[in-house]
Amino acid sequence: MGSSGGQAFPPARPEVEGLQAYSAPLEGRRGLLRLDFNENTVGPSPRVVEALRAIPADHIAIYPEYDGLREAVVAQLPRPLQPEQVGVFNGVDAAIHAVFHAYGDRGETLLTTSPTFGYYTPCAQMQGMAIEAIPYEGEAFAFPLEAIRAALARRPRLLLICNPNNPTGTRLAPPLVLELAASAPDTLVVVDELYEAFTGDSVLPLADFEATPNLVVLRSLAKTAGLAGLRIGFAIGHGAVVDRISRVTGPYDINSFAVTAAFAALADQAYVDAYVAEVLRARDWIAAQLQAAGVRHHVAGGNYLLIWPRGEAAQVDAALRAEGILVRAMAGKPLIDGSLRVSIGTQEQMQRFWRAYARIEALPVS
Ligand SMILES: Cc1ncc(COP(=O)(O)O)c(C=O)c1O
Repeated sequence: MGSSGGQAFPPARPEVEGLQAYSAPLEGRRGLLRLDFNENTVGPSPRVVEALRAIPADHIAIYPEYDGLREAVVAQLPRPLQPEQVGVFNGVDAAIHAVFHAYGDRGETLLTTSPTFGYYTPCAQMQGMAIEAIPYEGEAFAFPLEAIRAALARRPRLLLICNPNNPTGTRLAPPLVLELAASAPDTLVVVDELYEAFTGDSVLPLADFEATPNLVVLRSLAKTAGLAGLRIGFAIGHGAVVDRISRVTGPYDINSFAVTAAFAALADQAYVDAYVAEVLRARDWIAAQLQAAGVRHHVAGGNYLLIWPRGEAAQVDAALRAEGILVRAMAGKPLIDGSLRVSIGTQEQMQRFWRAYARIEALPVS
């Protein structure tokens, strides 16, 4: 028996009893400038909102239907694939969880990089897996290619590569991703391409899932199309692997609102393209301001950058929050402790951020 506040209760599996669950400061964010979760900062296409509003009330009483959804995803991919090669999940988080559930066993190893997206570690821990996290290299946080190659020779069960990496923005060229996967047929190589549409490099145009069936690519409509609140994401790979990953989910894990929104979002690629283009303009603008003001920063792939404030990061974080601007302190993260991760929104939003940041840090701004 376990006990909490003097009350006995049945303990969970040992891995779960010892688990520190992934937690993020998700409350009280509405109405503020959200530069803390790398979300779309303006909302989805008006066509998505229209489609959601048009859902008849009785549809809420019906279990969701997924007909045609995989086909709609495939139609947007840079290379023709079969619908069975796309798994649909309740966000990429759920796809990641399913990958570990289907493939990660007690005593096996997850190989990944550090620092990286925070959900891989708890997923490995809940399976009872060992974790080998290899640090990014040097001032520019370069991908630790040689160290990963060496570690792959020890045949870990899973390799998770976030490309571009959240939070360092590190990019890995697609031929190298393919080379890693081809060199390690016993390892499932999962490439999390959540931020690829901003400034990144997708392996999909090159991937041949028949030749490298151990490669899986994760994509989402959360960050570009603005559907983070509805939860929908995709795992793309060899049909048999996608099938195994999908086996460990429930039959209706993706709700009908997410399905309706996904169809509408996938049909309005122009909206996503325009949003991405705006973020890239804003990224160049904010990088130029930081450079001119002599602020230490790191900008690479993705819709986010790292800034090292002159003052205490926690205080700058709190001062920004007092101005209605949320950013994410990287406190305790290896290599980037003391920095702030700032998501990139529109040019107007970055101007607002910069005015507040420069004032808080007493920076000379022209
Ligand atoms: C690298 C990475 N992967 C996956 C996710 C989760 O994506 P989704 O919202 O589709 O679950 C995030 C969200 O922040 C992320 O940064």
